[in-house]
Amino acid sequence: MKIRKEFLPFSKPSIGEGEINKVVACLKSGWITTGAQAKEFEDEFCKLTNATQAIALNSATAGMHITLSALNICLGDEIITPSMTFASTINMIALRGATPVFVDIDYGTLNINPDLIEEKITKKTKAIIPVHFAGAPADMDKINNLARKYNRTVIEDAAHAVGTYYKGVHAGGFGHIAIFSFHPIKNITTGEGGMITLNDNEMERKLRLLRFHGIERDAWKRYGKGGNPAYDIAEPGYKYNLPDLLAALGLAQLERLQEFNKRRSYLAKLYSEGLKGVSGLDLPQVPEYDHIHAWHLFIVKVLALDRDKFMTRLADYNIGYSLHFPPAHLLKYVQEKYPVKKGFLVETERAADKIISLPLFPNMQDDDVQYVCEAIKEIFKNG
Ligand SMILES: Cc1ncc(COP(=O)(O)O)c(C=O)c1O
Repeated sequence: MKIRKEFLPFSKPSIGEGEINKVVACLKSGWITTGAQAKEFEDEFCKLTNATQAIALNSATAGMHITLSALNICLGDEIITPSMTFASTINMIALRGATPVFVDIDYGTLNINPDLIEEKITKKTKAIIPVHFAGAPADMDKINNLARKYNRTVIEDAAHAVGTYYKGVHAGGFGHIAIFSFHPIKNITTGEGGMITLNDNEMERKLRLLRFHGIERDAWKRYGKGGNPAYDIAEPGYKYNLPDLLAALGLAQLERLQEFNKRRSYLAKLYSEGLKGVSGLDLPQVPEYDHIHAWHLFIVKVLALDRDKFMTRLADYNIGYSLHFPPAHLLKYVQEKYPVKKGFLVETERAADKIISLPLFPNMQDDDVQYVCEAIKEIFKNG
């Protein structure tokens, strides 16, 4: 086959005139940091998720940091999480002085195996953090039942899950905390950004304080006409607010969520059809329960070839790729700091050195998917 001249990236944000106009309007408005746009973005997120509160942030990692802080997670506490997750979650647990307790995944979906959670719950367990992996929801009924039985907090890692539904409920709509990401590869982007959704007034108050220095009122209210610029701080906080400039981009992106996810879903179907029956390649499996997949990522598992070699060959064909994720329990500091041994998370490790994320973004053309499928078949044939 003929090798394409133009590099096909793994991901690329879809930014149209609507996004540009909204950001320009914000630039011209005279207010570019957190204010009315961020508030509107929060309101729209409540509507999407059915949560009663939403808090806009400059990353999902910031959201995890202040959530664990607000829950007073500290030395001696244990947090249950899959190892197949982004390192930011484990970093935040470690920075709070707590211990990540890893649960294995389902090899097919890469989602946490809910049947393995209960045996990991101890007196020290403070929270369970499932990930809606690649846009497929974790099995929330089983996880929520366990959380209720043991009275533990659930924090949904919904970084991949804008547009993900489990049995008709959007991620973040189950009554506890969820954290979304708007990093440029995500289903909608603000450049960098995140959102916490929840249904708890007291927790909301704590999170809003932690988001902005520990100061009681938002800056835009203090600097407005008649506002009082004085402040007091009862507890120190961070500086994690989402500027209006970025929230404006997020609002324009959110309007296009259905369009984006419909396209992602269609492209994923094209991939599945194009790669069906390729021997030595495992396609992503989807959960058996009722759900809507956000198709944030299309992750295949390369069995027929060494993955490093496969990546080099994809690069020869001018195709981008990514890796979600190197398992967290095998990261250097995690191995050194915590009692997690290699070989103990069987399915995670079985998948770990085989997974690779193929290009997937709404502006990708049907031909691009066909090109990737043909390239993979040729690579598998010729090595
Ligand atoms: C599963 C998961 N959790 C958390 C994050 C952190 O998101 P952010 O980059 O917005 O901090 C990411 C980002 O890639 C992610 O994939």
